[in-house]
Amino acid sequence: MNNEVNAEMKEFWNGEGGKRWVGFQEKLDASLKPFGRATMETATLSAGERVIEIGCGCGDNSIEMASRVGPEGRVHGIDISEPILERARAQSAMKNNLSFECGDAQTHGFETSVFDIAFSRFGVMFFDDPATAFGNIRSTLKPDGRLAFTCWRTVKDNEWVHLPLGVVANHLPLPPPPGANEPGPFSFGDPERVKDILQKAGFIDIAIKKFNAPFKVGENLDDAVSFLTQLGPANAAITEADPDETTRTRIAKDLRNALTPYDTGQGVVIDGATWIVNARNS
Ligand SMILES: C[S@@+](CC[C@H](N)C(=O)[O-])C[C@H]1O[C@@H](n2cnc3c(N)ncnc32)[C@H](O)[C@@H]1O
Repeated sequence: MNNEVNAEMKEFWNGEGGKRWVGFQEKLDASLKPFGRATMETATLSAGERVIEIGCGCGDNSIEMASRVGPEGRVHGIDISEPILERARAQSAMKNNLSFECGDAQTHGFETSVFDIAFSRFGVMFFDDPATAFGNIRSTLKPDGRLAFTCWRTVKDNEWVHLPLGVVANHLPLPPPPGANEPGPFSFGDPERVKDILQKAGFIDIAIKKFNAPFKVGENLDDAVSFLTQLGPANAAITEADPDETTRTRIAKDLRNALTPYDTGQGVVIDGATWIVNARNS
């Protein structure tokens, strides 16, 4: 057994998870943009400010924030995945006020009190010990520094997850759902848990607000089936059961039918349900 902190997530994001994230990068950035931009608005970035992005992924938000803080400002992205950062670096080669670093935000030896803002779009739900991780992130914020991130609400709140899972469940046994405190994309669904984590980490003025936006899961039905069976909990269930081709084809056909009501003609669109969380260093 590997006792290293965040070992499972490190392996996932540097392995198959990272490969898929990079493979779907353009689609993901287009679909997730509204969530990141809405969170950025709450961060109220000003020219000259210094921002750290946690779990920055392929850099879409870092690039945008580097434009917003301008040449006098600076954005630094940290991510645990080398292959994902490779894409971020390739996308942002022309930005002088933007840098990326591979590291685990829970344990990384950050420079203390240097950033005005810590930002994340769906990059902070994967820590073994979230209170320690957020304490570490807080250490790199200036005394009056701000935290702004978005995270998914529960699986139940997010039809783009429970609809495909329901289809898969008609064909395969689903793995047991993750425990309430286990790291993963939906581990911050309970706002009381998020508040408790941030309080333990020393943040104050914690505000947690619902934010819903249309989430495009595909340009058309086939695209949506491919996306929803290759990423997220439905993919995890299929990967674990490893069914034969006939079962995979049946799942794809049923999912296509189930998604038909969401096909707008300009994409297959389902509501995404998130929290936008803001807090301040104490
Ligand atoms: C769901 S992806 C989101 C990526 C990006 N923020 C976006 O919205 O496109 C989660 C990201 O968090 C990163 N991550 C997971 N655990 C991390 C950790 N402990 N420290 C830093 N990054 C982490 C992953 O490598 C991945 O890039």
